[in-house]
Amino acid sequence: MISRRLIAAATAAVVLGLSGQALAQANYPAKTITVVVPFAAGGPTDALARILSAKMSEKLGQQIIVDNVGGAGGTIGVAKAARAAPDGYTLAFTHMGTLAVNIALYKSLPYDSVKDFEPIGLGGTNPMVLVAKKGLPVKDFKEFAAYVKANEAKVQYGMAGIGAASHLGGLMLNSMMKVNVLEIPYRGTAPALNDLVAGQFDYMVDQAVNVLAQIKGGNIMALGVSTKKRLDVLPDVPTIDEAGLPGYEVEIWNGFFAPKGTPKAIIDKLNAVLTETLADPAISKRLAELAVVVPGKAESTPEALAATLKASIDKWVPAVRAAGVKPE
Ligand code: MLT
Repeated sequence: MISRRLIAAATAAVVLGLSGQALAQANYPAKTITVVVPFAAGGPTDALARILSAKMSEKLGQQIIVDNVGGAGGTIGVAKAARAAPDGYTLAFTHMGTLAVNIALYKSLPYDSVKDFEPIGLGGTNPMVLVAKKGLPVKDFKEFAAYVKANEAKVQYGMAGIGAASHLGGLMLNSMMKVNVLEIPYRGTAPALNDLVAGQFDYMVDQAVNVLAQIKGGNIMALGVSTKKRLDVLPDVPTIDEAGLPGYEVEIWNGFFAPKGTPKAIIDKLNAVLTETLADPAISKRLAELAVVVPGKAESTPEALAATLKASIDKWVPAVRAAGVKPE
């Protein structure tokens, strides 16, 4: 059935002499928008995507659904979004692991992080936490580092695939501790966290948003945070930098991207609702409780996200190569 909104837009288009493409843009969004999250449901990328999408959907007056397409460190989902029609109805919500770190870790990526996407805006930056299974016989970071060194052959760490944020956090940690331990890949850190709580592997470096509840519930141990300063939500947990690995610092930004060629009017509309969403007091309070650093207006423009992506590629591609990881 043709909606009244569409008839009104079409009438306006005739009066104003708009082309079909201009009409589609003026009427956007006219149907459900899909946001591809390249990791499992219930994890950190998914959590942030859902909090932001729900509010953006209210503001746009259209449904936004999240499509979890996990696997291969997020590359399958990101490639799916890159190949979608550039009409504003398929977007990606992803992070710097899939778009920057992956460049150093795959011989051939199924997308070009810069050429295949239009940045929409930054969604938030997440600190990470080194978490260990409850039964690990250590009580702080120093004991952890000594234990891993002494048990290198049997210790295992979990991550969400090659190039995931949890892979970056773990590989920088292991490289700085000078240990080589077995990595256990998952489709996202939600299923990895379930296995850590069950004691199936020894440790993981994951975004705070995913692990805070299990730390507070006493189901896993928090041994250090990845930022230069301690987190307000975990004041008693030292930074990894202060606890024994000076210089260790990893933070993960997440953002919305559209396939290359998506009209600028649509990017600007999505950016405007994202910016309004981030400024909403209930949303920023919820994100702060999850230790997410909410970007200000100037940091969440499409141009600022393009610059953030470029800066991450410039920083992490050489750092990961220097850590000696061979591309797959
Ligand atoms: C990651 O490690 O990249 C993320 O935590 C994956 C996820 O969102 O599950």
